[in-house]
Amino acid sequence: MDMIRLDLEKARISADSGIVTKALEIREELKQDKEAYTGWVNWPFTMPAEWMPEMDRVAADIRSKCGKLIVIGIGGSYLGSAAIIEALGGSKPGCPELLFAGNNMSGYYHADFKRIIEENDVCLCVVSKSGGTMESRLAFSILKDWMYEKYGKEETAKRIVAVTDPKKGVLREECDREGYVTFEIPGNIGGRYSAFTPGIMFPLAVAGVDLKAFVKGAADICSDEAFWKDGLRYAASRFALLEAGKKIEVFEYYDPSLRLIGEWCKQLFGESEGKEGKGLFPASLTFSTDLHSMGQYLQQGPQIFFETILNVVKRDRDVKVPESAGPELAGRSLNDINAMAVKGVMAAHEKADIPMIRIDMEEMNEYALGQLLYFLMMTSAVTGKLMGIDPFNQPGVEDYKQEIRNLLGQ
Ligand code: PA5
Repeated sequence: MDMIRLDLEKARISADSGIVTKALEIREELKQDKEAYTGWVNWPFTMPAEWMPEMDRVAADIRSKCGKLIVIGIGGSYLGSAAIIEALGGSKPGCPELLFAGNNMSGYYHADFKRIIEENDVCLCVVSKSGGTMESRLAFSILKDWMYEKYGKEETAKRIVAVTDPKKGVLREECDREGYVTFEIPGNIGGRYSAFTPGIMFPLAVAGVDLKAFVKGAADICSDEAFWKDGLRYAASRFALLEAGKKIEVFEYYDPSLRLIGEWCKQLFGESEGKEGKGLFPASLTFSTDLHSMGQYLQQGPQIFFETILNVVKRDRDVKVPESAGPELAGRSLNDINAMAVKGVMAAHEKADIPMIRIDMEEMNEYALGQLLYFLMMTSAVTGKLMGIDPFNQPGVEDYKQEIRNLLGQ
C-alpha cells in the first residue's frame, strides 16, 4: 500500500545534514520510551491485543442502542475522532452519527443537545484523561441529566462509555461507582498523542471506521526505517525555517473535509511547541475557499510564514463538469480542476518566494490517516526536541484552567 510522500523541493530553506542527523537521533531516543509521555511512540505495536476486540464488542452493543453517539471531550480528547470522521465523510452506512459536545462552554451550543436527546436514541462517550477538565465535566453532567429524564438512571448508565486514566481522576471514581463500561488512555500517553488509543478510536469504532487499517497505517510508517530517513527532513526543515525567521506554518488543504485535520494539526503543534518563547504558530486554511480572503495576505503580506500542503492525490468521489460551464471546462473532472488549483497556487506562491512543503497522500482512507497522524505526531515531537522544549507538557494550558477555576471559586 502507498506510503505518504514528502516533497521539500520548494521549501527554499533546507536543513543542514547536522540537523537531519540530530532529528534521526531524537527519534531513536523516543523509540526507547524512557521519557515520560512517550508511550505513543511504539503504541501501534504495544497496544494490548485484547483492546481492539473489546472495543469492537462494546461498539456493536452501542450501535444496537442508538442512532447518535454524543462524544464529550476537548483538545486531544476529541479532535482526533472528529477530524477522522469528517475526513472519511461521516459514519459508515447504518452506524450511528457522531456528535461532539464538551469542546466549548457555550450554553447556546449545548442547548441543542436537549432536543437531540429527546428526539433520538442516544448514547454518550465521555473522553477525559484527567477526568477533571471543566468543559467535558460540565457537558457530561448536563447531558447525563437530560438522559436521566428520558431513560432513568439505570438505563442511562448502560448508555455511557467512559474513556479516562486507568487509575486517577474524578471520572475514574464515577466509573467505578456507577459501573460504566470504561476504556483507558494509558498513563504514559498525553492527550494530543492519543490518536491510537480508545479515547479517539472507540467513537470511531461505533461509527464503523476500519480501525485495523488505521492502526496498520501507523504501524507501517512507525516501522519503516527507510521512510524516516527522508520523512524526518520535514521536522528538520520546520526547525530550519523557524531559525531562519519564519514564525507561522500554514497547513493548507483543497477539500473542506480536511478542515478538522487542520484543527488537529493546530492542536498538536501549537500545544506541543509553543513554549519558552519558541515554536511555530500553526494556522490552517481551506482552499480554494480561503484563497479569496487569506490568499491575498499570503501572496503579498509580510513573509513571516511557510506553507504545508496536505494533498490528497485521488478521491473516490467526483463530479463531471456539464456543457453549460463552457467549452474549456465542459467534460472535465472537478477533482482534476482542483488538482490544477494546487499546481497553480504553488506556482504563484513560488513567485512570491514562499517556502512550501507538500505532503502527498495517494488516497484518503483509514490506512492513509493512520500514517498521516503518526507522521505528524513524530514530526511534532522531534521538532519540539530540536527547539529544546518539552513537546509533551502544556504548562500554559494548565495556567488558564487554574484561572477559570479561581474565578468560579473552585
Ligand atoms: O493534549 C492535551 O493534553 C490536551 O489538549 C488535553 O487533551 C485536553 O486538555 C483535554 O484533557 P483531558 O483529556 O484531561 O480532559
